[in-house]
Amino acid sequence: MAIGLIGGSGLYEIEGLTLLREVSLSTPFGEPSAPYRIGVFGGSEVVFLARHGTPHRFPPHRVNYRANIWGFKSLGVERIITVSAVGGINRDMPPGSLVLLDQLIDMTYGTRPSTFYEGEKVVHVDFTDPYCAGMREYLLTASRTSGIPLVAGGTYVCVNGPRLETAKEIQFFASIGADVVGMTAMPEASLAREAELCLAGIAVVTNRAAGISGGKLTTTEVVETMRSSLVALKTLLGDVLSLIPPSRGCACKDALQDSFL
Ligand code: HPA
Repeated sequence: MAIGLIGGSGLYEIEGLTLLREVSLSTPFGEPSAPYRIGVFGGSEVVFLARHGTPHRFPPHRVNYRANIWGFKSLGVERIITVSAVGGINRDMPPGSLVLLDQLIDMTYGTRPSTFYEGEKVVHVDFTDPYCAGMREYLLTASRTSGIPLVAGGTYVCVNGPRLETAKEIQFFASIGADVVGMTAMPEASLAREAELCLAGIAVVTNRAAGISGGKLTTTEVVETMRSSLVALKTLLGDVLSLIPPSRGCACKDALQDSFL
């Protein structure tokens, strides 16, 4: 079963992917950000999607997260690994760190379409642990075998953007336990849960968050740090793919059980 990969800012294709075909889809929720690139990477079948489109044309608040996740589901993908650029709030996570996310704080709530269930059926899906424990384990194992350092856990606060944060906002986010800040993890993660997909999130710290760096934040820094993390990311992804067993043993596949009113 192919593994889905979502690439964020600075990751628009996977170098080394042997492309088999590109699939353009339309979904009940509109068009995904880009064609899905189906291919083989490190001996495993993957389906890659550039979250912001190719070229980068959808800002975080305009990404059609519902179409993107629906598209993966309709292609038969059951597990997705996302890669996202983030600002580092936690001083122990300097630029260049790869952080395996385990928690989310959603500051976009109410501003983005965030459910597949808008009427008829009402769903309240459990989201206590937003990321798949199984997928996290495979990535931690891949980090050990590949020697690519991966911070074992981190809380991502998702802001609406597209502007960056104020220094006080970052102080506030630090005080409520956020380690990294970004603009895209939500509602991507909760939609994946509603779709009963397994999701893992790798955050690439591309800059120190506002007020921590001291200086002006630039997109150049974000893209350059992402670019210099690509070799490590590729190694980690190549290793993890071979560790993911064909069938799922986690609870994600039954996420909708007991979730309808
Ligand atoms: N803030 C929000 N989103 C980001 C940042 C940041 O500092 N860096 C990369 N994505």
